[in-house]
Amino acid sequence: MIEHLQDKIFTTISEIADKHQQACYVIGGYVRDLLLKRPSKDIDIVVVGSGIELAGRVAKKTGKNTHLSVFKNFGTAQVKTPVYEIEFVGARKESYQRDSRKPVVEDGTLEDDQNRRDFTINALAICLNKDHYGELIDPFNGLTDLKNQVIRTPLNPDITFSDDPLRMMRAVRFAAQLGFYIEVNTFEAIGRNKERINIISKERVADELNKIILSPKPSVGFILLEKSGLLKLIFPELDDLRGVETKDGVGHKDNFYHTIAVLDNLSEHSDNLWLRWSALLHDVGKTRTKRFDKKLGWTFHNHEFTGMKMLPDIFKKMKLPMNEKMKYTQKMVLLHMRPIVLSEEEITDSAVRRLLFDAGDDIDDLMLLCEADITSKNREKVKRYKGNFQIVRRKLKEIEEKDRIRNFQPPVKGDEIMQLFNLPACSLVGEIKMKIKDAILDGIIPNEYDAAYKYMINIAAEMGISPTTK
Ligand code: CTP
Repeated sequence: MIEHLQDKIFTTISEIADKHQQACYVIGGYVRDLLLKRPSKDIDIVVVGSGIELAGRVAKKTGKNTHLSVFKNFGTAQVKTPVYEIEFVGARKESYQRDSRKPVVEDGTLEDDQNRRDFTINALAICLNKDHYGELIDPFNGLTDLKNQVIRTPLNPDITFSDDPLRMMRAVRFAAQLGFYIEVNTFEAIGRNKERINIISKERVADELNKIILSPKPSVGFILLEKSGLLKLIFPELDDLRGVETKDGVGHKDNFYHTIAVLDNLSEHSDNLWLRWSALLHDVGKTRTKRFDKKLGWTFHNHEFTGMKMLPDIFKKMKLPMNEKMKYTQKMVLLHMRPIVLSEEEITDSAVRRLLFDAGDDIDDLMLLCEADITSKNREKVKRYKGNFQIVRRKLKEIEEKDRIRNFQPPVKGDEIMQLFNLPACSLVGEIKMKIKDAILDGIIPNEYDAAYKYMINIAAEMGISPTTK
């Protein structure tokens, strides 16, 4: 390990710890990521003794570009250098009470500290003291688990998960992020302890969920969440999409598996968290809109509208941001059927302009989502859809270049209409504006002021309104 610990920061910590006879180790995620060759800037140091004292000494030595924060209540301190964020903590022994995540903490040995960690791959420690510099301390065969890509708790998993139920989400997250397997006993323990997830704050659960969503193949995480029973507890609306119903010999697809396939498809093309959330939620309205019709079979009419309406409650409950990120997600969910419907009909300029107008700057994201939504196993069908999408994309480009609809602002403003026709703020003004907008989107007039002005005078006359003469 020595070659990995060449950075000056490690030798500095080592010298200071030796001078004060403190045993000290790099531990946890940094060691795991080092061995996996995933560079990380977050270093955790565990000290047998006071972490705060060692942090203070290190900060003093590393000088003026370093910032020290001490959290006395937690017995930890953080040293921020221009490159690293280093967390110092005294080795501890912890025990938990059943109804809380807050542990009772006592000073402990390195072994105690490793025992209380979540997974064997996160319990690896490297000694920083000179005599054993670079020595790996691996009491639970974490290195073997790392090689075999296994997630396993160091102790009885029922204890590890009951102590801190967030770890059940972390197990799934690491499986998705690293492409690892959850060892069978560990996985079964998640099933047994799942209800304890309810004592974890929604924010922390959402944090882990976001990491799962941002992983290379998020379906891995969602299948594990579903199979362990966690999904029903943390995200029931997604769990509700599961299952296939058959009537008169006609079935529909399993909307849960379809949804996570869409999310995987999208993830190959975009790292945008909220576009990924949109993929996850695009069909969420299907549970409430599902009907069986003798002629049409299964239908989900207006599921995009119902889904869009469900989002504020879901976001609020899951403590997701109720801001422009939610609005963006709502827009994606609402519009996700438009390009596909468009591609199935004759693609008129007017329909393309309306799509551009409604999607605005998010049109490219919407197209990515719609293409990801094609999960059919029928090759011919997929080929046809993809071909049609290419036509839609080409048309979008042509029309955008010609008509600049993407950030369309009506060329004649409401104030001007009110002044010209001496109207108060009323529905007539809105009606005139709407007619001008429709005329532009339908290609009756170009997206220009003069044409819009002339058109406005004409339609106002038809409505019996004429400009006031000054
Ligand atoms: N840890 C734990 N139980 C938790 C959280 C953390 O045992 N619920 C331990 C693990 O040893 C972990 C270390 O604390 O490696 C640091 O935690 P954290 O920084 O949250 O996670 P990392 O493992 O470093 O991974 P990431 O940075 O990807 O979250």
